[in-house]
Amino acid sequence: MSNQRRPEEAPDTGHEWDGIRELTNEPPKWWTICFYASLLWCVVYFILYPSIPLINGPNEGLLGWTSIKEYKAEVAKYDEQRAPYVSKLEGMSAEAILKDQEMLNFANSYTNAIYGDYCAACHGTSGQGAEGRFPTLLDDEWLHGGSIAAIQESVTYGREGQMPAFAGQVSDADIGKLADFVIALSQGNQGSDTDWALYEESGCGMCHADNAKGWTDAGAPNLTDAIWRFGSSKDEVVRTIAHGVNAEGVAETRNAVMPAFEGRLSENDIKLLAVRVWSMGGGQ
Ligand code: HEC
Ligand code: HEC
Repeated sequence: MSNQRRPEEAPDTGHEWDGIRELTNEPPKWWTICFYASLLWCVVYFILYPSIPLINGPNEGLLGWTSIKEYKAEVAKYDEQRAPYVSKLEGMSAEAILKDQEMLNFANSYTNAIYGDYCAACHGTSGQGAEGRFPTLLDDEWLHGGSIAAIQESVTYGREGQMPAFAGQVSDADIGKLADFVIALSQGNQGSDTDWALYEESGCGMCHADNAKGWTDAGAPNLTDAIWRFGSSKDEVVRTIAHGVNAEGVAETRNAVMPAFEGRLSENDIKLLAVRVWSMGGGQ
């Protein structure tokens, strides 16, 4: 600190606290240079970039840079890169996309956001569903059919499986027997002739088919596999049989409504979502 005078030579400001005198030494040169350089930097920045709000809108700066413009330019660049793929997807049928691995990958990444916004709340972020409430889209058991056309129809028009409540029509004892029977079927047992007779008499075969393997036209699931929509414990199965599914006026019925997306999503987006769902797992 060559330009610093020693304390005893420097005039003081007359301030003294507990024996410490305030001197009038200049600050070091390097400090002064930095100080003026930063002031200059501020002025230059102030002129080039948006700085203070003025009376009629913000001052935009000579360069005209704004973060919104930067964001829009990035988005435009991204859209431009995707444009050829997007228009190609629009022209392709769902079946054709499924056969083209590159376009399928693109369709799957394209639908990430739409799936997240419109489907994930019920079917889960990866299509795993929620037991008792929303079916999984990952397995190859389909309530309403797993062909690409059937999936497209499910999403376009929505679905609402209907099973009547059997309480009152079938005795409690028989409902218990039917529950035991379908649980046994799901565990690989064949069931006795009396079980099958009760199943037929009660009218279950009308929707779940005579062999209990389900009927997609009725949205009725296969009862012989280990996949359970509403839970596999006896209590849950009894509840389904006694109170039905979407049965009108039945308080304890299961609610299972897939909303229609016609009008909420474009035909193209629905097609691409169907492709995604088909390729998630068990498309048929
Ligand atoms: C409000 C909740 C909800 C939303 C949102 C929803 N779903 Fe569903 N979805 C359901 C329910 C409930 C069912 C079962 C309907 C039934 O039981 O008959 C279903 C059934 C389906 C099926 C038929 C499954 C089968 O086994 O046949 C497909 C495919 C499907 N949804 C796809 C989608 C797609 C794609 C979206 C997003 C665009 C979506 N869902 C949004 C509740 C929902
Ligand atoms: C009118 C058609 C219809 C009839 C009749 C019918 N079901 Fe159903 N059943 C359905 C539908 C539709 C579903 C599934 C609804 C869904 O998942 O949205 C279902 C679901 C079930 C389930 C739940 C399966 C699971 O995975 O959780 C069981 C169990 C069942 N039915 C048993 C029976 C039995 C036993 C009978 C005869 C007493 C019967 N059903 C009669 C249409 C029917």
